[in-house]
Amino acid sequence: MSTLDDPAGVGAEPSAASFCAFVRDEESRRAIEQVAGELPFGRTMVTTGGIRGAIEYLGAHRSPKVLMVDLSGSELPLTEIDELADVCEPGVTVVAFGDQNDVGLFRELVARGVGDYLVKPLSPGLVHEALLRALQGHANGRRMSRLGRLVGVLGARGGVGATMIACGIAHVIAETRRRRVCLTDLDLQSGTVALTFDLDPSHGLREALESPERIDSLFVDRAATKYSDLLHVLAAEESLDEECRPMPEALQPLYGELRTRFHFVVLDMPRPGSPLFLPTLEQLDELILVADPSLAAMRDGLRILQALARTSGSCHPTVVLNRVGAHRSGELEPKEFENGIGRKIDLRIPFDPKNVAAALNAGQLGFAERGPVGQAIRTLANIAARGPAGETRSIVRRLLAFWK
Ligand SMILES: Nc1ncnc2c1ncn2[C@@H]1O[C@H](COP(=O)(O)OP(=O)(O)OP(=O)(O)O)[C@@H](O)[C@H]1O
Ligand SMILES: [Mg+2]
Repeated sequence: MSTLDDPAGVGAEPSAASFCAFVRDEESRRAIEQVAGELPFGRTMVTTGGIRGAIEYLGAHRSPKVLMVDLSGSELPLTEIDELADVCEPGVTVVAFGDQNDVGLFRELVARGVGDYLVKPLSPGLVHEALLRALQGHANGRRMSRLGRLVGVLGARGGVGATMIACGIAHVIAETRRRRVCLTDLDLQSGTVALTFDLDPSHGLREALESPERIDSLFVDRAATKYSDLLHVLAAEESLDEECRPMPEALQPLYGELRTRFHFVVLDMPRPGSPLFLPTLEQLDELILVADPSLAAMRDGLRILQALARTSGSCHPTVVLNRVGAHRSGELEPKEFENGIGRKIDLRIPFDPKNVAAALNAGQLGFAERGPVGQAIRTLANIAARGPAGETRSIVRRLLAFWK
C-alpha cells in the first residue's frame, strides 16, 4: 500500500483527510498550506490548535496518513506525544515541529515513533522535503510509526470457548479502552464470529485470502463489517458446497494492512492443520490458548505449545482453562492439567451458562461485563493490551502498553 494509492483519503471514510496539520502561527500555516496543495494528498486539513488540538480532534475522528503537529508552547511535549500516540491509528506518519532546537528532544521524539522534527520558522522548502520523505516512507512500506498488536485466540480443540473469548476481548478493548479493533475470523466456512455479533459478512475476506494481490489500502473498508465505530469484524460465511483455498502468502499483506489501520487485530485462530495455522502463529504478538479440563484438550494444548516453541515466532502464550465445572465428573484437576502441559494455567474461567448463553443468543456481548466470565474476559483484555485500562502509567509503560 502507498499513500499515492489512496489519494481520496483514508480508505472509504469520506470525512477523513489524508493530510492534517495542527499549527499555532500564521507563518507555519502558510508554508504548510502551500506545500500540502502541491503534493498528491487528496483531501487536506490545516487548522490551529497545535498538539492539544490534534489530540482532541483525533480522539473523535479517523486519522490521516500524514500528520503535522506544532509542539511549541507545550511544557511536556513528550507526554503529549504519548497522548497523541494513544489516540492515533497505528499507520500514521507524524511530522512534529516546534521552536526548540534540541537534539535530545529530536531523539526522544523519534524513539516514540515520530517520523521527523522540524525547527521553526517553517519555510515551504523545509516542509516540502519533510512531507516528501513522509510520503516515500509510506510508498516503500517503511512507515515511521509503530503497528497495531496481533492477538491470537486459539482453542486447544473444538468447542472449548475460543470464539466466545476472542469476541469478548475484542469488545472490551474497543468499548472500554476506546481503541480501534479488527476482530478477524479465519474460518471461512464455519466461523462463528459474525454470528456472535449478528452481522452479515461479505465475501471480501475469502477473495483476499485466495487472491492476495487484491489486498490494498481500500480492502478493509470493502471487506470488514462495522459492529461499532471502533470494532470492525472481518469474517466470512462461505458456502459449504465450494472448496475454499486460502493462500498462506496472503497473510503477510493482510496482517500488514490490518495492523496499520487498527490498534489491535484480534484473531479467532484457524485450527492446527489449516495452511494458515503455522504462518499465523509465527506472526502473533500474543497467544491466548484456550482449553477445557479434558484429557483431549490437555494433549492438544501441549502439542500446540510444542509447535509454538518450534516456530520462529516470539509471542507470549497465556493458557486459559475455560468451562471449568461443566462436567463435574471426569474433569481433570488443574494440577493434573498443569503437569500434563508442563506449565502453569494462567487463568481459570468457570462454566456459567446462565450469563454466557443468554447474552450470546441475544447477539449481545453483555457477558463481557457480567459475572466471573466477564471478569476473566477483562483480565484477558488487559493481558492482550498489556496493562489495565485507565491506570496511570509512566511514559515508558504507556509506550509498552500500546506499541510493540
Ligand atoms: N465459560 C463458559 N460458560 C458457559 N458457556 C460457555 C463458556 N465458554 C464457552 N461457552 C459456550 O460454549 C460453546 C462453545 O463456545 P465457542 O463457540 O466459543 O467455542 P470454540 O472453541 O470457538 O468452538 P469451535 O471449535 O466450534 O470454534 C458456546 O455455546 C459458548 O457460549
Ligand atoms: Mg470457534
